[in-house]
Amino acid sequence: FSLQPCNTLGVSARAQWLARITSRDDLLAVLADPRAAGLPCRVLGGGSNLVLGGDVAALVLKVEIMGRRLVREDDAAWYVAAGAGENWHDFVQWTLAQGYAGLENLSLIPGTVGAAPVQNIGAYGAEIKDHFFELTGYALDGDEIRRFDSDTCQFAYRDSVFKQAEAGRWLIAEVVFRLPKQHALNTAYGDIETELTGAGLPRTAQGVAQAVINVRRRKLPDPAVIGNAGSFFKNPVVPADVCTALQQQYPGLVAYPAGIGLMKLAAGWLIDQCGWKGRRLGPVGMYEKQALVLVNHGGASGADVTALMQAVQADVRQHFGVELEAEPVWW
Ligand code: EPU
Repeated sequence: FSLQPCNTLGVSARAQWLARITSRDDLLAVLADPRAAGLPCRVLGGGSNLVLGGDVAALVLKVEIMGRRLVREDDAAWYVAAGAGENWHDFVQWTLAQGYAGLENLSLIPGTVGAAPVQNIGAYGAEIKDHFFELTGYALDGDEIRRFDSDTCQFAYRDSVFKQAEAGRWLIAEVVFRLPKQHALNTAYGDIETELTGAGLPRTAQGVAQAVINVRRRKLPDPAVIGNAGSFFKNPVVPADVCTALQQQYPGLVAYPAGIGLMKLAAGWLIDQCGWKGRRLGPVGMYEKQALVLVNHGGASGADVTALMQAVQADVRQHFGVELEAEPVWW
């Protein structure tokens, strides 16, 4: 099975076996199939945060569990559920059309609903954890069904228990969000306020969604046009004194507070300063409009991606003494 159409970087690789999972029955059937015996399982959503290092000797479970519904409401909030296979952006726009605000800042993030909690997706001052209620996971090594609430998910910056202690153990089937009836718009981050005013958009959740969509379309490459996996590195978090020392040496350094005694540096700025913006190494490069995004100019392999990642990491380490950590998951 070719995995090339299943990863937004557009790297070509093959999977030993690929099964589309639309229900729990599908999962149980495929796990009980003698051909699956002894094969490791890998769960695939939209493939937008994935680097394929080579062919995958595994049973790849492509999650296509669909559906979205209002589960219940109380005086304070709506509880809205979506199947893990739903497209994230379409789900966000659907909630807004129903009049449930809260997820607007996360518009146009590629990928599926089920993948969203795995790395606690975030943008423009919001993260999925802000409105997450619970999710349902199906065990890959038995018949357990487990609910994870926000605490057990252990959300952190682009991180959760599903990238740590529980990595590879669950297929996320459904996610429930809690969308408060009293919701304040958050337009403080970056260009959102300017875009709202400049484009004459209404100060509603749908207006903010449109502002986010406009800003993202200007800055980020569309994976349908040029292969990419969004931000390729996390913004590194460093002790405040390290940041202060760097700022003295490089007055243009972009940094934000990240908790007591910690600062988050803009990795895009560091990479840009090292001259990597728009620069290529073989068939891959760092995007011309946003140095944090690694792009596939065509025909890249996992090894090409790794080579560029290491070259960028080495340059940033040499110039700034800062370690960059890749954001995507590697298979
Ligand atoms: N910058 C440069 N040169 C560049 C790129 C950025 O100097 O080539 C500077 C910008 O001028 C800005 C700063 O770096 O001052 C930060 O850039 P930006 O606001 O574009 O955001 P980011 O830190 O690069 C993060 C998230 C994005 C998210 C945006 C908006 C991470 C790793 N990335 O990017 O998330 O959309 O903020 O909230 O946290 C993703 O995770 O895949 C992703 C796209």
